[in-house]
Amino acid sequence: MSQTVLVLNGPNLGRLDIRDSALYGNLNFVQLVEFISSSAIENGFVADVRQSDDESQIISWLHEAADAKLPVIINPAAFTHYSYAIRDAAEMLKAPLIEVHLSNPLAREEFRHTSVISGIASGTIAGFGPSSYALALKALRGILDK
Ligand code: DQA
Repeated sequence: MSQTVLVLNGPNLGRLDIRDSALYGNLNFVQLVEFISSSAIENGFVADVRQSDDESQIISWLHEAADAKLPVIINPAAFTHYSYAIRDAAEMLKAPLIEVHLSNPLAREEFRHTSVISGIASGTIAGFGPSSYALALKALRGILDK
């Protein structure tokens, strides 16, 4: 039976169609969800993909994942750089956490060079557009099969 993975996406990622495609790629959010869902199946997962612009919503989803012992792939978007509340919620997870980014924050403005999430993640995959999620799913499969 396929394992569920929660794939959480933070603010403004629901509007990929109008964000800079040079940074974030050519898929709109619905297409990104389809891409993640099919990559998940290839790796033996069912992806429950969610997006919110609301920090408290993302924290509630992390609590849900912690209680259900679900692995999480998260693109915290701008919250990456300053949300200690999301970090604290993610720290309570019982299964692996992987951080992903479409762009490479380290190649961008200085304020994006800090991630308050990376320190509690199994790993971070950034800069590969939608493929960052596919790589994260593959990595997660590797971790869980070890
Ligand atoms: C992002 C990078 C963040 O710095 C930015 O705030 C985002 C998206 C990415 O996927 O590249 O909204 O997380």
